[in-house]
Amino acid sequence: MQRRSPAPPLHKPTLLLFFFFLTRLSAAWRPWPNQKTNVSDLQFTGSKKYEGSSEFVKLRYHMGPVLTSNITVHIIWYGTWPSSQKKIIREFINSISATNHRQSEKYPSVSDWWKTVQLYTDQTGSNISRTVRLGEEKNDRFLSHGKTLTRLSIQSVIKSAITAKTKPLPVQSKGGLYLLLTGEDVYVQDFCQNVCGFHYFTFPAIVGFTLPYAWVGNSAKLCPGICAYPFAVPEYMPGVTPVKSPNGEVGVDGMISVIGHEIAELASNPLVNAWYAGGDPSFPVEIADLCEGIYGTGGGGSYTGQMMNDADGATYNMHGIRRRFLVQWIWNNVVNYCTGPNALD
Ligand SMILES: *[C@@H]1O[C@H](CO)[C@@H](O)[C@H](O)[C@H]1NC(C)=O
Ligand SMILES: *[C@@H]1O[C@H](CO)[C@@H](O)[C@H](O)[C@H]1NC(C)=O
Ligand SMILES: *[C@@H]1O[C@H](CO)[C@@H](O)[C@H](O)[C@H]1NC(C)=O
Repeated sequence: MQRRSPAPPLHKPTLLLFFFFLTRLSAAWRPWPNQKTNVSDLQFTGSKKYEGSSEFVKLRYHMGPVLTSNITVHIIWYGTWPSSQKKIIREFINSISATNHRQSEKYPSVSDWWKTVQLYTDQTGSNISRTVRLGEEKNDRFLSHGKTLTRLSIQSVIKSAITAKTKPLPVQSKGGLYLLLTGEDVYVQDFCQNVCGFHYFTFPAIVGFTLPYAWVGNSAKLCPGICAYPFAVPEYMPGVTPVKSPNGEVGVDGMISVIGHEIAELASNPLVNAWYAGGDPSFPVEIADLCEGIYGTGGGGSYTGQMMNDADGATYNMHGIRRRFLVQWIWNNVVNYCTGPNALD
């Protein structure tokens, strides 16, 4: 069935399901290929608020730094990137701290979405910065490290970008984030099997510096039903209809939520020693992991929650500069559930 506004809210407050996710150390949902999806779950109705809320989530601060000064996102475009696709991603990042209300602040807005991230503080009580801006960009169109990247070779791509002879990316250890975006012709280790993106920090031995970075891939050719869900639906979910993407690019519109996920986690856990749940720092459950797949009120389990539907049929949940986006919610440590700007209550 189509799960889009203005359908009545559907809920799936199943603790059993939640424990299942907890044991997998991932509280949230995506249609992963190795996970059985019970389609009737999608249609289950109930009345309790869900949105990931649970007394069992023990998100803790582990004393490491968070990004409290202005955040600058430097992009590496790896592989084929038409300028129309780049523009969607640039405008999303620019929307995070858009202040000119006439530009973007139709409600609900991307800058309201970031307010949940700003709730996180460091040891001194300083909040995560409200300012996120687009930094420098580097094209790696000819695939300097091949068509298939591993977690380690991703770091070599970053090294190439900061040491390039022409227009290298700046090395910015304060507030700098490095976002490696792979085009639809590139495969990255575990892409589509377990991940649509991830973040970590670079190793001085490879890159020369410790820099927080993230990778996110365009899944349009490889697995849109997984990484661009709900704009595409995998074959093993018969009867579920994809929703229309807001910017006409299924792969890139799907990446937007993953980019938001990674930037939120980079800001709150840049060196993987700050905000996360779970006992194992090599497999942390972070502020966006807890809400993956939740885009609106009532979301949880495999139900996305209430999204919005425009006159052109597009499904989205927030406005940015000149565009609409669908971005997952973020764990709110003040109220202990996932929150987002399009909440109905
Ligand atoms: C799917 O879920 C429904 C309701 O939760 C349940 O009644 C049904 O038995 C499940 N089907 C399978 C194949 O697990
Ligand atoms: C941080 O960003 C704000 C808003 O864009 C700006 O006014 C301020 O000068 C910046 N601070 C630094 C240290 O760059
Ligand atoms: C800073 O974080 C505290 C604690 O979460 C929160 O109460 C406060 O509203 C935050 N400030 C901003 C500007 O988000």
